[in-house]
Amino acid sequence: MPYSLKDIQWIQSQLRAEHIGREIINYDSVGSTNDIAKRLVGESDKEGSVILAGSQTQGKGRLGKTWYSEENVGIYLSILLKPSLPPEQIAQITLVAGVALVQAINEFSRVRTFLKWPNDILLNGKKVAGILTEHCQDGAHSGVILGIGINVNHARFPVSLQHIATSMAMENGETFERLPLITFLLNHLDQEYRSFLNKGISPTVDQWNLNSDMFGKHISLTQGAQTFFGTAMNLDKEGQLVILIDDGEKIAFASGEVTLME
Ligand code: BTN
Repeated sequence: MPYSLKDIQWIQSQLRAEHIGREIINYDSVGSTNDIAKRLVGESDKEGSVILAGSQTQGKGRLGKTWYSEENVGIYLSILLKPSLPPEQIAQITLVAGVALVQAINEFSRVRTFLKWPNDILLNGKKVAGILTEHCQDGAHSGVILGIGINVNHARFPVSLQHIATSMAMENGETFERLPLITFLLNHLDQEYRSFLNKGISPTVDQWNLNSDMFGKHISLTQGAQTFFGTAMNLDKEGQLVILIDDGEKIAFASGEVTLME
């Protein structure tokens, strides 16, 4: 079933957030909720608006990938944020969202999810949720679109995704109500985002390090044409991934595509 007006009102009644979710715009189906949210960037009073959809026909992932968005079994939403931050800190919002997302999902499922840098949430080693953060400019107005996809009640995935994707239902053997999960997510997000604006990224990085199981593992990190191999150490105080490269050098990376080797 698509979300009804009553569903949206119920979600809003459960929110403690000051801004996030004050307005929730609901669609049965859209191309991409991130693209719809971008249209709001030029409007001055839309900070915290949420675009929620029952399905997406052109759901977008990071690095030009698509996000499988089957009808009414997953959570597909985007939030418009308008922080006054220098561009180098915009990427840190992905870490803020990651911490809120693991906290929300872990309160719901019996199996613990873990963060994989920079934007993946893994459940039993497979991807259960992802974050796509896009910076957007419309004339004098700028904003950050935070897109979040959660595989909640998917029973299966297309063959091409079966080795990398999973859902909360597939791993827990039971289905989950999406509405309370959305409220947990938006409340955690509001809390984490406000902490980020007031105290900086440091508390988020501490939480991120506690909720990742990638440290100590052998990984590869690809940046454009270059691939590095080494052991993931931790996130540094800016949220960069520190890798002990196999030749003994320690490097902090601000971006890249990580593959776990073991
Ligand atoms: C990734 O892991 O590569 C990011 C996935 C982000 C998917 C969400 S679903 C809602 C929002 N709209 C999109 O088109 N993408 C994000």
